[in-house]
Amino acid sequence: MARSLKGVSVEPTRREFLKAGALLTGAAVLPRGLMTVPGQELAVEAFQVPLTVPPVLTPYERRAGVDRYRIAMRRSNAEVIPGSRTPVWGYNGRFPGPTIRVESGKPVVVRQMNRLDVATTVHLHGGHVSPGDDGHPMDLIAPGRHKDYHYPNDQPASTLWYHDHTHRQTGRNVNMGLAGLYIIEDDVERGLNLPSGEFDVPLVLQDRKFNRDGSFFFRHDHNGNFGDVYLVNGRPMPFFEVAARKYRFRLVNASNSRIYDLALDPGFPMTQIASDGGLLPAPNAITNVSISPAERIEVVIDFSLLPLGTSLTLRDRDPEAEPGEPGAPVMRFDVTRQADDTSTVPAALRPVEPLPEASREREFELSLDFDAGWVINGKGFGPNRIDARPRLGEVEVWRFNNLSTLPHPMHLHQAMFQILDREGTPPPPGERGWKDTVRVDSAERVRIAVRFTRFTGDYVFHCHNLAHEDHAMMAQMRIRR
Ligand code: C2O
Ligand code: CU
Ligand code: CU
Repeated sequence: MARSLKGVSVEPTRREFLKAGALLTGAAVLPRGLMTVPGQELAVEAFQVPLTVPPVLTPYERRAGVDRYRIAMRRSNAEVIPGSRTPVWGYNGRFPGPTIRVESGKPVVVRQMNRLDVATTVHLHGGHVSPGDDGHPMDLIAPGRHKDYHYPNDQPASTLWYHDHTHRQTGRNVNMGLAGLYIIEDDVERGLNLPSGEFDVPLVLQDRKFNRDGSFFFRHDHNGNFGDVYLVNGRPMPFFEVAARKYRFRLVNASNSRIYDLALDPGFPMTQIASDGGLLPAPNAITNVSISPAERIEVVIDFSLLPLGTSLTLRDRDPEAEPGEPGAPVMRFDVTRQADDTSTVPAALRPVEPLPEASREREFELSLDFDAGWVINGKGFGPNRIDARPRLGEVEVWRFNNLSTLPHPMHLHQAMFQILDREGTPPPPGERGWKDTVRVDSAERVRIAVRFTRFTGDYVFHCHNLAHEDHAMMAQMRIRR
């Protein structure tokens, strides 16, 4: 007795489980306005602290044209909620980690030293790297040891990020703070004269729940880890004083599980210029945007259209909210001064050549299994199993078929892909750039085209809701000649 869910047939055994799953997902609801943390002493109001931007790391050495960086993963304390102390595991002890800014085509080496008492592995999300440098979940750095990660940076300007990827512990480790930005720049992008320097601002979005003592709450939960406090660059619902001119914002969803639906309040236009893999072919005017875990969305906001003294609040609308409800505040932009602006947003950004016709098609069913947890084609992650063997240089179509009641942001290591369609409909303009993570909604089928180049070997692909990923929604491909 198969039931039809938007035309997708769901086996009866899974149906009961889907129902149970639906009951467990209500965790995403945030109170409005005043954010209260368990324990009075940790009450935090929105817009009390200024936004800060993670510092850019300087290489400790430049040898034969290769910049070398050193990062120590270590424990420290961060003042996330004013007046309290939060123990974190940070890259160089920072939450979020320092930003690495590199030039396209110029290789770098990042030495990651593990000063924690747990094994870790570091993945460059969106990076086109060899299997040994990819931070595979089983390729661990033992406590006290280090590893040199080689990043060729042979890819266009884009906003990537690095984060922990330890087998079954990624959610906990990222929640503790192990995430940072990795920005690639190039001449094409510089030639466009987009807002730059202090007017190019990364916004790392995370949500956290706190324990009474100020520490981050975490529990292994296979459905998701949702916070009740929004953090931007590690600050709770900050304000940001801006000049009346254009800014470029690099939105990075580094949250464990939360999918944001962002809009400015009062309603105000944003111009999307880039996604995961860098610039879109053309700017895309939007008033709201969905960003699921690991996705990047870059927008330009032109504050010159606003009088001095006005503010715009960035809000996240809960999918269950009543229509017209503004959503919870994430941060606020306060227009406080005049400034010159010679930057532009050209009508053409960077062409995205469609990939040629695929030579094969693969299908991946996403569902929930009683024993195995979240599964891809019926199986949870098997580190010693290869689930797909694509050929180097060939174009493939991958179809994700979501048979579950929750959305899954599906991510491929090693290659950027193009979204072909959602249920047969071509993607909206904001999804017509290079992507490495795609949201697959409940009962939705999404097709992507991908071509693996340069490196052969084993890489993972997985759901980027870290709770799902840790509860086995990950598979492995072997790229072969
Ligand atoms: Cu951002 Cu496999 O991860
Ligand atoms: Cu990745
Ligand atoms: Cu998922």
